[in-house]
Amino acid sequence: MEHIPVLLEPILKMAKELSREPKYYFDGTFGRGGHARALMNEWPQLQTFAVDQDAEAIEFAQTHFAKEIAAGRLVIRRANFAELQELQAELRAFHGGAGFDLILIDLGVSSPQLDRGDRGFSFYHEGPLDMRMDQRGEVTAKEIVNSWDSDDLAKLFRELGEVRSPGRVVDAIIEARRRQAFQTTRELAGLIERCLGWRKKGQHPATQYFLALRLEVNRELDVVKQAIPQLVEMLSESGRLMIITFHSLEDRIAKYALRELCDRGSLVNKKVIQAPWAEVKKNPRARSAKLRVFQKGVAS
Ligand SMILES: C[S@@+](CC[C@H](N)C(=O)[O-])C[C@H]1O[C@@H](n2cnc3c(N)ncnc32)[C@H](O)[C@@H]1O
Repeated sequence: MEHIPVLLEPILKMAKELSREPKYYFDGTFGRGGHARALMNEWPQLQTFAVDQDAEAIEFAQTHFAKEIAAGRLVIRRANFAELQELQAELRAFHGGAGFDLILIDLGVSSPQLDRGDRGFSFYHEGPLDMRMDQRGEVTAKEIVNSWDSDDLAKLFRELGEVRSPGRVVDAIIEARRRQAFQTTRELAGLIERCLGWRKKGQHPATQYFLALRLEVNRELDVVKQAIPQLVEMLSESGRLMIITFHSLEDRIAKYALRELCDRGSLVNKKVIQAPWAEVKKNPRARSAKLRVFQKGVAS
């Protein structure tokens, strides 16, 4: 499925409200470049530096943004937005010390990552139990499911999946893997389906279990916490950091991390921005999206 960028209108609005035309944009989660494309269309002079940890996102950019790359309007690098040390010199040379006027991190996975069975994120499509966004990562979901003991698995599903009583599923995993190690997404999803049945209408019973595994494999919560202060430092004076989250744990981390930076700037929107019904109807992924925006410097 094509990736539809979420909350595009409020993102553009937040960018238009800057006290000057944005010149330098840092996209920490390039994906399929939906947000980047819209911002570059809006401001033809905008210079974009984008990263993504997924090799496929980089290949996509090289093919579909070849013109922008050739014209020097887009620089794309494979990196984790929380680990930009190696790129610091290049980033500084890019904006000449001015900092970025706009920074966006649109967290989580893209639709193509989710839909492709071979990436291992989907409980509907058969594929290796992988779930790494960065294919160079050492830990896969398969390793966790096959090697963690029952207490650690239960803690993982409770804390990251917010599953109240994961005991039955954990026991079934331990029992099943004694006979044969899990290899694929459908093996695990099928076991959870048999264990729990379909309770919530429209929600696959493995949803929270898969989410917990994905968050752990990619250390997604740690990454957000670690990145936010660094990204604020990369902003220009009165530049804006925009963060889109997709679930409550991630959003809570963003909220508190930004609050702790009150000496560096302030929140633009006191209440989180969510997608209107019309957007959710067109793009169900937008249902749980929340946008927080932080402006560096003293509010005018
Ligand atoms: C929700 S998609 C972004 C979609 C993008 N805004 C668009 O409009 O096409 C998230 C993307 O960010 C990448 N990603 C997630 N966490 C990352 C991180 N810590 N560092 C770099 N890339 C990350 C994923 O690989 C994925 O391609």
